[in-house]
Amino acid sequence: MKLINSSNTPMENFESECLNRIPADLLACSEMTDAERRFINGLIRYHRPKRILEIGVAEGAGSLVILNTIQDDSDAYLTSIDIADYHYNYSNANEKMHVGEVAKNCNNLDSSDSKWKLITGKDPVEVMESIGIIDFCIIDSGHVHPIESLNFLVVLPYLSADAIVVLHDIAIYRSYIPEFRNMHAPKLLFDSVVADKLLPCQRAYYNIAAFQITPGTRKYISNVFSMLSFRWDCPPAMLSNHYDYFLKHYNSDFVEYYLEAIRANVPLLAGQGTSVSVSPGLKKHFSSAWDDLVSKKGIILYGAGSNCLKLLEFWGTHKHLYAEVLLPPVFEIWDINADKISSVHNIPVVLPRFSTLNGSSDYAVIITLQSKGSYYFVSLEITKNGFSNVFEFDDILPMLTAKGLA
Ligand SMILES: C[S@@+](CC[C@H](N)C(=O)[O-])C[C@H]1O[C@@H](n2cnc3c(N)ncnc32)[C@H](O)[C@@H]1O
Repeated sequence: MKLINSSNTPMENFESECLNRIPADLLACSEMTDAERRFINGLIRYHRPKRILEIGVAEGAGSLVILNTIQDDSDAYLTSIDIADYHYNYSNANEKMHVGEVAKNCNNLDSSDSKWKLITGKDPVEVMESIGIIDFCIIDSGHVHPIESLNFLVVLPYLSADAIVVLHDIAIYRSYIPEFRNMHAPKLLFDSVVADKLLPCQRAYYNIAAFQITPGTRKYISNVFSMLSFRWDCPPAMLSNHYDYFLKHYNSDFVEYYLEAIRANVPLLAGQGTSVSVSPGLKKHFSSAWDDLVSKKGIILYGAGSNCLKLLEFWGTHKHLYAEVLLPPVFEIWDINADKISSVHNIPVVLPRFSTLNGSSDYAVIITLQSKGSYYFVSLEITKNGFSNVFEFDDILPMLTAKGLA
């Protein structure tokens, strides 16, 4: 991985005078510093990309900078996407400002359809396939993990061979403002992606930076997929389903990382007392396993340890979340130490009785053992008895959560 040294041609200074065309009162709305705007302007002027994508628009001051920068390049055009329809700073309904309004209101710029396509109220995953190939992408969106990484993974299949990606607010998590301190998303993405990195002149505490795609970016994209499982800080309402899209565009091993990240985070999100309302695909993914589970007469929990306890407690405290479906009762808890642990939450613990399963499809077994090795051997023992309704603890919590939430 190369660290591109921008000091020979500081992007901030490259043809920065063209930014003077933007009226000062419109620039005053910008959420970027003067140097950050010059960095983007310089990169675009230097590389002359034609197909530009902006993810995260807000009032549109960033779109304004980009549109101004490509004003004299008749082949260049911008597509901007924002998940919101209205700018977040205007909570008062009477003052609502449409996303992108600042750029729309700039009379001396061509923001006609041929130069600018603004898409609002959509996540990039919903529209990327209709946008097509991109040469230059600016991601300045949720800032809370995993939004920026999901945005990038959506765009990557459509990036041209040496496309450039700019990330804004990379250092926002170092802010003294408490609400910003969990905004690690741009930094996590910037540090985990394999690419040629381009830093601004202001190296210490840089808040904007870019990277250029190399063959290694795609080759080592598992780094980014794997990093998805770091704690998700975004509110569930910001999450869209990426499962089908990833399956279509990436190797299924990488999609496993995505599912692993969901497994690690869905119970956490549900614990916030909010619904994972934008996870229809998640539900879809789990639905056949779920249908299997709820059709049983009873459930046997294998292992009477902390996962068993956790599951029973989760089951008890989240009952209201999936009241519409009646979960089968826990029928038995099996543990090889049944002589030492008599019960968990008043459910008796007995020694495993594999033979009683006898190929029956009436019961499901959830293996709650922590060790993956033991899980493997126990599931082997169970399936040897002609029994296939075996679930792993790690699959259960997200399944319950995803299924039970509206
Ligand atoms: C920091 S603002 C963007 C500022 C803008 N780039 C500028 O320079 O003025 C972040 C924007 O990203 C949007 N956003 C958040 N999550 C998103 C997502 N998953 N996809 C697209 N936009 C998103 C928010 O609605 C918000 O308008």
